[in-house]
Amino acid sequence: MARVRITETAIRDGHQSLLATRMRTEDMIPALERMDAAGYGSIECWGGATFDTAMRFLLEDPWERLREVKRRLAHTPTQMLLRGQNAVGYRHYADDVVRAFCERAVENGMDVFRIFDALNDTRNLETAFDSVKRAGGHVQGTLCYTTSPAHGVESFAALAGRLVEMGADSLCIKDMAGLLSPVMAERLVRRIKGDHPRVPLQLHCHDTSGYAEMAYLLAVRAGADAIDCAISPLAGGTSQPATETLVAALAEDAELDTGIALDDLVETAEYFGGVRRRYWKHESHLLGVDAGVLRHQVPGGMISNLVGQLREQGQEARLGEVLEENARVRADLGYPPLVTPSSQIVGSQAVLNVLTGKRYGSVTRETRNLARGLYGATAAPIAPEVLAQVLDGEQPITHRPADDLAPELESAAAEIGELAESAEDVLSYVMFPQPARRFLEWRREGGGPERELVAAVVGAMAVRERANARPPAVAPAPATASAGGGGDWRRFGRMRQMP
Ligand code: CO
Repeated sequence: MARVRITETAIRDGHQSLLATRMRTEDMIPALERMDAAGYGSIECWGGATFDTAMRFLLEDPWERLREVKRRLAHTPTQMLLRGQNAVGYRHYADDVVRAFCERAVENGMDVFRIFDALNDTRNLETAFDSVKRAGGHVQGTLCYTTSPAHGVESFAALAGRLVEMGADSLCIKDMAGLLSPVMAERLVRRIKGDHPRVPLQLHCHDTSGYAEMAYLLAVRAGADAIDCAISPLAGGTSQPATETLVAALAEDAELDTGIALDDLVETAEYFGGVRRRYWKHESHLLGVDAGVLRHQVPGGMISNLVGQLREQGQEARLGEVLEENARVRADLGYPPLVTPSSQIVGSQAVLNVLTGKRYGSVTRETRNLARGLYGATAAPIAPEVLAQVLDGEQPITHRPADDLAPELESAAAEIGELAESAEDVLSYVMFPQPARRFLEWRREGGGPERELVAAVVGAMAVRERANARPPAVAPAPATASAGGGGDWRRFGRMRQMP
């Protein structure tokens, strides 16, 4: 009986972190039977950015992928990443959407739902928790790890307690930026397992800073029950630690054994080595250890976005200033963890503050919405002077943001009409209207060889985009722009998704 369970992330976070989420279902399928037999605790295969990317870039039906994967996993639970009220999209959806999404996901084969909110506001998790539980899925409550004066063992222990009260079947410490130090991992695990000895605790670390293997070792020694790893060809850097490394290291201690035989991973590793080579066009430039994270806590992906925004204005030399301002903006805004979408909000506002020379003289729509409470509550209060400047007298809301959202499904179904052949299609459309419509039209025409053509064109465009590395051209807002006015800055803030 395995003591430490391993979740394999190769076909979700592994390729999301290293290959821009571009892996196709057809490249996953040949590996699944072998993966199913290896003895993983679960296989992460859905959610995060994969839903959007499947339709947008691959002309694939994400629901179909889930069914295809599930069909081949007789012994191993499927697992997904769900962004609470954002489901698999980038804004808050109405409760009817979140409910239907969770139900359909269970129905199509999803077992374990890792549910998080970027601000750790548990009100944004309520509907998803309730819907998954009703549908018979496993709810994994998530703590988005970050460091700040407002975060520490006590605050995370309180959050864990709240998640357990809400009915979480297990807990996950999600370290998307690679900031969880080995010592902190040990302290957090000891505390949370002490408080909730019977609730399984999982760690999800990115190896960005080089901390993750050490954090995993100390965490499992302190009582953590499960860790996320990626098979070696899709591991390391901004992805997870390698499955083989942890399997071998933990096998030497019977108390920590994973129950997986190293030999059973060889063919899977060889297979994904070949797959990775086929996706060379989408390789991340952030390989190896990013030591910058250890100094300023800004992960490499976010830095390249900041550099891109500055380059557009011919102001690359001001990166140092922007990084300092980034830390100040994050403090002003109540120390949000730097994960989608808060990393974009903080980063874009920092760039604006530096380039306009007047802090919050111009404010992005997202910053204003955060101040208005539309994303939920922040860990610390937003600085009063910033609040006054940004909101101009408007009162922030203090209730659950989704309470203000009217049901969306019925009108979406009417809009997309006969193109949607199922409840799943309607949900795809609600989440990503344009890509879903394009996909559904393509499918109605009978699909066919265009899939390859579109993939080739999209691939070529991605290469060109990368070569130019240009965010949309937007000039700094004029001095007369009122706080919150600059709608165009929205696009200016387009950043890569943080894993
Ligand atoms: Co991740």
